[in-house]
Amino acid sequence: MAGTTAATQTKTVHPGRAVGGRKGRLLTGDRPTGRLHVGHYVGSLENRLRMQEEYECFFLIADYHVLTTGADRTREIAGNIRELVLDYLSVGIDPAKSTIYLQSLVPEVAVLHLIFSMLTTVPRLQRVPTLKEVMRDLKLETASLGLLSYPVLQAADILMVRANVVPVGKDQASHLEVTREIARRFNEQYGEVFPEPQTLTGRVGTLVGTDGQAKMSKSLDNAIYLSDDAATVTRKVGKMYTDPTRIHPTDPGHVEGNPVFIYHDAFNTNRAEVEDLKARYLKGTVGDVEVKQRLARALNEFLDPIRERRARFAAEPRRIEEVIIAGSRAARREAQETLHLCLERMGMDYFRAVREEA
Ligand code: TRP
Repeated sequence: MAGTTAATQTKTVHPGRAVGGRKGRLLTGDRPTGRLHVGHYVGSLENRLRMQEEYECFFLIADYHVLTTGADRTREIAGNIRELVLDYLSVGIDPAKSTIYLQSLVPEVAVLHLIFSMLTTVPRLQRVPTLKEVMRDLKLETASLGLLSYPVLQAADILMVRANVVPVGKDQASHLEVTREIARRFNEQYGEVFPEPQTLTGRVGTLVGTDGQAKMSKSLDNAIYLSDDAATVTRKVGKMYTDPTRIHPTDPGHVEGNPVFIYHDAFNTNRAEVEDLKARYLKGTVGDVEVKQRLARALNEFLDPIRERRARFAAEPRRIEEVIIAGSRAARREAQETLHLCLERMGMDYFRAVREEA
């Protein structure tokens, strides 16, 4: 099937894109730890939607990855999975075109993780910057083996479907480096199986929080969620951090790096309005209140169609299960094929007949 014969086909149209008429493969995903916010939208969801037609897409719900930091909160995962699928469907990910699947329903990924764990060294994983960040944020003195291996499990997710492109937030770039290294090492050692996938980051690298902190995050309570209603968005925008040096609306203000304008740039489609507000802000002829009112309106306009779709899907709860089951079946077929191919290349395919019976 796809991937195994690509090398013998015709010319590459675009790296990581269609090869000889076959669509390129895209994989990305999220841990089911809570609702998605507007930072996820500009960081990655928007790219997924844009590429849904051109690529064969896999969207992964990484529930095993939750265990790396939340082994004591496993009971919350089921509800978060439903919320995540609802977020996906609400923004317009279409299960008729794309495969939405659950990591734990594709157990081959654990086997691939095991194989890959032999192709990566401990010091290499200790150098991954997100490890230090997570340990600092969670005040961990030492990392579990599973947490250290987080990027290796992620590599197994990506390479399992032999993805060509991975749209992710900027913070994930270092994990994709590990993925490419593992792909390269496997291919060198055993023969060509994996493409080296490209990282695709969004038009806004990391969206600042409403409090002006570097990143929107649930734990900092500074996020605007895709599922927030209009009144909640208006209230959150009203409390947003703006220019701390500006005391009166007649003071000339700073636009550069000001969260309110960063959001205007990201979500307000009325460019003329944004330019006018910026010019007046710099001169001190517009107040924060007006800038925020216009931002709340723009955000709510952006979120309205997402809310409408959410309400429709939330009314048919069985739908979510059906999407997960059908998607996981499809992903599992790919995983089995990739795993067989790996074992074959490794010369470990000795008892194929038994495996096929089992
Ligand atoms: N690490 C990703 C995150 O926290 C989630 C993830 C798991 C992922 N496996 C993946 C993303 C594979 C892209 C590809 O956001």
